[in-house]
Amino acid sequence: MEYRTVYPSEYELLATTHQLAFDDFFLTALGLPFLRTYYRAVLQFEESIAVCAINTQGKLVGFATGSMQATGYNRRLLSANCRGFLLVALKLIFTKPKAIIRLLKNLTKQAHPADDGNYAELLSIAVLPTEKGNGVGKGLLNYFEVEAMKRGCTKVALTTDFENNEGVVAFYRKNGYGVFYEFITYPNRKMYKLIKQLPEMG
Ligand SMILES: CC(C)(COP(=O)(O)OP(=O)(O)OC[C@H]1O[C@@H](n2cnc3c(N)ncnc32)[C@H](O)[C@@H]1OP(=O)(O)O)[C@@H](O)C(=O)NCCC(=O)NCCS
Repeated sequence: MEYRTVYPSEYELLATTHQLAFDDFFLTALGLPFLRTYYRAVLQFEESIAVCAINTQGKLVGFATGSMQATGYNRRLLSANCRGFLLVALKLIFTKPKAIIRLLKNLTKQAHPADDGNYAELLSIAVLPTEKGNGVGKGLLNYFEVEAMKRGCTKVALTTDFENNEGVVAFYRKNGYGVFYEFITYPNRKMYKLIKQLPEMG
C-alpha cells in the first residue's frame, strides 16, 4: 500500500469513495453533486490536509481529509468557494430542505468552553468496504498525523458518534485518541470529541 497526499484533480474519486464507505451518513444523503463540490473545494484549499491510500493495482482505496487549524475552517472553505456551494445549496433547498437546516445549525454551533479550536482536525476518514480491517485506516491516520506535524500542528482532534459506534471509537482509541469531551449536536445526536497529542518531530 502506498500513502501520499491527494491531487486536486482526484475530487471525484474522494466523492465516490465517501459514498461507498459512509453508507448511511448525513453528507452521503446530500448526494454526489454535493460531495463533488465539497471535496473539490477541500482539495483546492491551502489550509486542508488530504491523504490517500493506493493499492498495488494503483487504485485509491481510502482517504483522510481535514484542516490544519480547526477554528473557522468550514467558514473559510465556504467563503473561498461561495459560488459552487451556493449552486448545490439552491438545489438542496428544493430537494432536501431539512438537510440545509441541519448544515446551518452545525456550522453555527457554539464551541465547548474548554475547546479553543487550536488543533488540526480530521474531518473525514474512509476506507472502501472491501479493504476494511487490513490496516489501511491506521496507515491513513498515521500519514494524516505526519502531514499535520509537517505543518507545525501539535494536536489532532475529531468528532465521532457516541451511540452505536463502538468499532470506530475502538479504532481511534487503538491509534492513541482519547476523549476530549462529549456534546449533543443537531438534531439531538450525542457525539464524542476525541483528541491526540502528536509527538515532537525529530
Ligand atoms: C473506521 C475505518 C476508517 C477504519 O479503517 P480500517 O482500515 O478498517 O481499520 P484498520 O484495519 O486500520 O484498524 C486499525 C486498528 O483498529 C481496530 N479496529 C478497526 N475497526 C474496528 C472495529 N470495527 N472494531 C474494533 N476494532 C477496530 C483494528 O482491529 C486495528 O487494531 P490493531 O492495530 O490492534 O490491529 C473504516 O472502517 C471506515 O472507513 N469506516 C467507514 C467510515 C467511518 O465510519 N469513518 C469514521 C467516521 S468518524
